Amino acid sequence: MARDGAGAPAHCSGSRDLLRFLTCGSVDDGKSTLIGRLLHDCALIFDDQLEALERESQRFGTTGGIDFSLLLDGLEDERQQRITIDVAYRYFATPARAFVVADAPGHEQYTRNMATGASTSDLAVILVDARNGVVAQTMRHAFICSLLGIRHYVLAVNKMDLVGFDQARFAEIVARFTEFAARFGDSEVCPIPLSALEGDNVTRRSERTPWYRGPSLLEHLERVEPTRGLDQRPFRFPVQWINRPNGEFRGFSGTVVSGSIRVGDPVRLAGSGRTTRVREIVSFDGPLDEVSVGDAVTLRLSEEIDVTRGDMLVDPRNPPECVDQFAAHVIWMSEHRMVPGRSYLLKIGTRTLPATVTALKYRVEVSSLAHLADRSLGLNDIGFCNLSTAAPIAFDPYAENRDTGGFILIDRLTTETAGAGMITFGLRRASNIHWQALTVGRQERAALKGQAAAVLWLTGLSGAGKSTIADLVEKQLYAAGRHTMLLDGDNVRHGLNRDLGFTDVDRVENIRRVGEVAKLMTEAGLIVICSFISPFRAERQMVRELIEPTEFLEIFVDAPLEECIRRDPKGLYAKATAGRIENFTGIGSPYEPPEAAELRLDTVSSTPEDAAARILDALRQRRII
Ligand code: ADX
Repeated sequence: MARDGAGAPAHCSGSRDLLRFLTCGSVDDGKSTLIGRLLHDCALIFDDQLEALERESQRFGTTGGIDFSLLLDGLEDERQQRITIDVAYRYFATPARAFVVADAPGHEQYTRNMATGASTSDLAVILVDARNGVVAQTMRHAFICSLLGIRHYVLAVNKMDLVGFDQARFAEIVARFTEFAARFGDSEVCPIPLSALEGDNVTRRSERTPWYRGPSLLEHLERVEPTRGLDQRPFRFPVQWINRPNGEFRGFSGTVVSGSIRVGDPVRLAGSGRTTRVREIVSFDGPLDEVSVGDAVTLRLSEEIDVTRGDMLVDPRNPPECVDQFAAHVIWMSEHRMVPGRSYLLKIGTRTLPATVTALKYRVEVSSLAHLADRSLGLNDIGFCNLSTAAPIAFDPYAENRDTGGFILIDRLTTETAGAGMITFGLRRASNIHWQALTVGRQERAALKGQAAAVLWLTGLSGAGKSTIADLVEKQLYAAGRHTMLLDGDNVRHGLNRDLGFTDVDRVENIRRVGEVAKLMTEAGLIVICSFISPFRAERQMVRELIEPTEFLEIFVDAPLEECIRRDPKGLYAKATAGRIENFTGIGSPYEPPEAAELRLDTVSSTPEDAAARILDALRQRRII
């Protein structure tokens, strides 16, 4: 470990050993004060900053003297509201070590920020207020940190001055926390009694806690040996882009996320089984013989193999698993509930592809770590799920490698990050199930029927006219000797989907199953007419992606809600408006109209017969009939 001179400015610390840590706690536990105090006592605050701090403390401070928390809360509007609203990263250094500290806010809705801070940290300082002890939020934060791979904890029992530096109170809090931490695996906890405000046991051991024999916070941070070892792990290199400046040169650019590699070493394209050797390693500063974790380089291989962005070059002696189904912990971060069966985009390393949560195995009740049965996850919920991706992905379990085992789920409509996931293991069923090649294929089956297969997907409000139109279309196709099948919402719910109701989760599953059935029927060569409200764009898109592009027609059966209420053929709108049916589409549950349907049929200005005629025209135009 290189040592710089004492008091060197933080940004000059170059090669010094670096510890990344995170502070978390509830709103008033004093995180910002603690970090402010650390910086102050390490003499890292310059005189002009100190003057400004005194001025600010008089204006916004809550502590009487200098308010150290103001050092951390960077933004003006945050200062005025007295809350911290984003992850604040601070860099500081002592002669022994350099530090990056992520200050994650304590509000429950900011789990996202906390997870972001934790995912790159080696250690977490969990703050508790000595008066309140371990609260639900403490356990929540510690558990999230453990999921995100943190093994080292400081239990900072703050505000000891307000409990008279009472040893028994400290012991009680430590016992409660250690008991909890023991339940989520091999973690190392260092409990420290302190007063961030008055400086006890922050950088120096306090005389006011003579019964405490351990280190001050800073001493511990300087000495702790974080479990790392990414450099000891097998070589992993997710390809960021293909570097091809001219016809001669073709290299693969990215950052080494674990292990190391030398010119001449064997590498494999994960998932393909193709192995070759490294011919050249090119960096910004010229060719290199060897590179390791964190180095951004371009690799040239001895043989031309077909690598694309998102692929991973790996150590052939220790390849990652490659599957399209796996189990993972997921932290949900969106206001929109997670819906099993819905298609999200999954981003892992440099790869992004469609994925669905196939099963929510359980939700974790964080304060007790109990596993609860649930259908979906809401904001800040944590669950253990099975996921399925559109193609196999190469991964390592998150506990072994955060970079190749961590992913995010993106909402396909809003593009917001909806969840963060940590892969635990690949599902064996995925590697034991193969695709069986069949002699008679979809083309042959359709040809025998003298037609092309298709899915006519009718979507719209209840009462818009879907079933009537679907029935007319099928009647005419039948009369013309075509082979059809009609799947209708009401009917399917009597059998295959008898177990489903009308919550968002159930509707998504309804459409997923019907989509799969329709797909099988196109493989049988049928023209499949589907009549479902199918209120969500995401699921209509999912069905579209299941079916061959030339075989799918989305048909929007459009009538305004007021007109459907007026028609009310089944008397259901009357019941729904009287509050006797929950989640009725248009009343208690939304309908998202299509944005790019192949056909839009206005059933106010035209008759069902006109509508059916337009569908048949569309089929003729596309040479389906
Ligand atoms: S979908 O939303 O999941 O696509 P689906 O088309 O299968 O719905 O079923 C809709 C039919 O179920 C409606 O035509 C109506 O007869 C009946 N129904 C019963 N309860 C509801 C409800 N809460 N919302 C909508 N339709 C309902």
